[in-house]
Amino acid sequence: MKKNNNIDFNISNVNQKVELYGWVLRKRNLGGLIFIDLRDRSGVIQLVVNPDSKYYDLAHDLKNEYVIRVEGVIVKRQSPNSNLKTGEIEVEVSNLEVLNTSLDIPFTISDDTTASEETRLKYRYLDIRRNPIKDRLITRSNITYYVREFLHNEKFIEVETPILCKSTPEGARDYLVPSRIFPSKFYALPQSPQLFKQLLMIGGMERYFQIAKCFRDEDLRADRQPEFSQIDLEMSFVSEEDVMDLTERLIAYVFKKIKNIDIKLPLMKMKYDDAINYYGSDKPDLRFDMKINDITDIFINTNITMFSDVINNDGIINCLVINNNYDYFSRKEIDKLTDFVKKYKAKGLAFLKFNEEVSGSISKVISKEELDKLKEKLNIKNNDVVLIVADNKKIVKQSLGALRNKLGRDLGLIDNNIYKMLWVVDFPSFEYSEEENRYVAMHHPFTSVKDSDIDKLISDKEHCYSKAYDIVINGYEAGGGSIRIHNQDMQKKMFEALELTEEQIKEKFGFFVEALKYGTPPHGGLAIGLDRLTMLLTDTENIRDVITFPKTASASCLMSECPNYVDEAQLRELKIKVE
Ligand code: AMO
Repeated sequence: MKKNNNIDFNISNVNQKVELYGWVLRKRNLGGLIFIDLRDRSGVIQLVVNPDSKYYDLAHDLKNEYVIRVEGVIVKRQSPNSNLKTGEIEVEVSNLEVLNTSLDIPFTISDDTTASEETRLKYRYLDIRRNPIKDRLITRSNITYYVREFLHNEKFIEVETPILCKSTPEGARDYLVPSRIFPSKFYALPQSPQLFKQLLMIGGMERYFQIAKCFRDEDLRADRQPEFSQIDLEMSFVSEEDVMDLTERLIAYVFKKIKNIDIKLPLMKMKYDDAINYYGSDKPDLRFDMKINDITDIFINTNITMFSDVINNDGIINCLVINNNYDYFSRKEIDKLTDFVKKYKAKGLAFLKFNEEVSGSISKVISKEELDKLKEKLNIKNNDVVLIVADNKKIVKQSLGALRNKLGRDLGLIDNNIYKMLWVVDFPSFEYSEEENRYVAMHHPFTSVKDSDIDKLISDKEHCYSKAYDIVINGYEAGGGSIRIHNQDMQKKMFEALELTEEQIKEKFGFFVEALKYGTPPHGGLAIGLDRLTMLLTDTENIRDVITFPKTASASCLMSECPNYVDEAQLRELKIKVE
């Protein structure tokens, strides 16, 4: 067995005999000596083979990524390399064995490879040899280690739940698995262990956790994969405050262990409505200020038709103020930003630039009174720019929220060395789905409504708020959860509110409603996205960097080439015909 790691050795080990295993990172022939950089998981150490060594020819024939075993003696290096942890020493080889050869590799194993992501994903096993991926996998392993340590100390027990589950409506699209024994019936892969963790509370487990694999067939983004992992928690006899307190202590523990960063607790809380109003997002990035301002009142009697039309249709006028950046907003840049907000359905982007004079798309039509009020309300100074969207509330908030994030990045307003965490609380229970033409659950159908809003469950869904909370870190939704409904009548009422028929409730959730009848304790929980947490702790915005064998944006694996066709015989056995 391999006993030593390359980076275990330093100048204090000079004259020590060692046996090392690893890969040839590179080889150089200098003045008759052969130098080999030997890489193992821990790092790199230099080997040297003298011309009079009986292994000289073998060393000469070594190629990159050959796997070797060497014996030798540690010696002090003539010219140290400060970039290497082992840079003060090298190993004088007394024995060399080639354990395996390698084909020429499609890209070099270096930190800053120029290979495309496609090539790296096709040869992911080689990509994993590179530090940026390897180190992230190691950090991920450390994160789960500390999560388990923290939760065991808090008296949680780790429980596994099934992967072959029942398909239930409400949520993203399921991945389905056909049953061979019951032709035309299907299992679904779990989108989360939501029902199981609640059933574990009914089962008296009191405090459960799991590092759970979840599967969702939805459109992918830079922070979304079809198959991802959650740190899934559930607790009995708790309030919203209890779950948030435990979760933030867990997050703070992991940040301290992994990054040696002290997170100040308790984290701030922001109501969902405020997050939308001021930041245009339920996951506000608080690493920079720049709030969205409502300036509708200034234009109540305006002559600017595009504004009065919006106000007459119950719309709103909001803006962002960008301080001290006059020159950045050239006509060309404004055109680009206008195209950007149009992606969020805004009809346009009005703007004003303030200097000795006021210029911009509405500078000729805005009245002096409106301008004065605007300056006062927004505390405008020379060199400031105001970007305005007028439309219905949803479009205004979404487009300005996205624009805010874009400008935060493009103008370098974001401090990348800090973490800004908060809880977003008091989510609405429902959101209106234009697609389905009905209200759907904003979190999921098992979320309790606020005690004061129980009457609104059926009669006033728009103003019904829930006991749900999300933890947001640097603009990412890192986790979310809620206090659950533990009363079967209330759960039925919630299904009714979601317009599920009696039959659908029985067919899809009957087992769960039945379980609620047997002494269900009050309970609540949360799930943290492990992949997103790892992204935040390893400074990447690409979720594929923290997943060992990730899928592409079109949910395929370039290495194994899945999804793939299956044999006719397999389909016959499942009684499935493919058109
Ligand atoms: P939710 O759907 O909010 O809640 O998921 C919890 C957390 O999981 C992460 N996440 C994802 N990460 C990567 N790729 C995805 N496709 C993806 N989808 C979600 C996010 C998110 O905050 N059952 C509830 C939790 C609960 O109520 O306890 C649930 O799954 O970080």
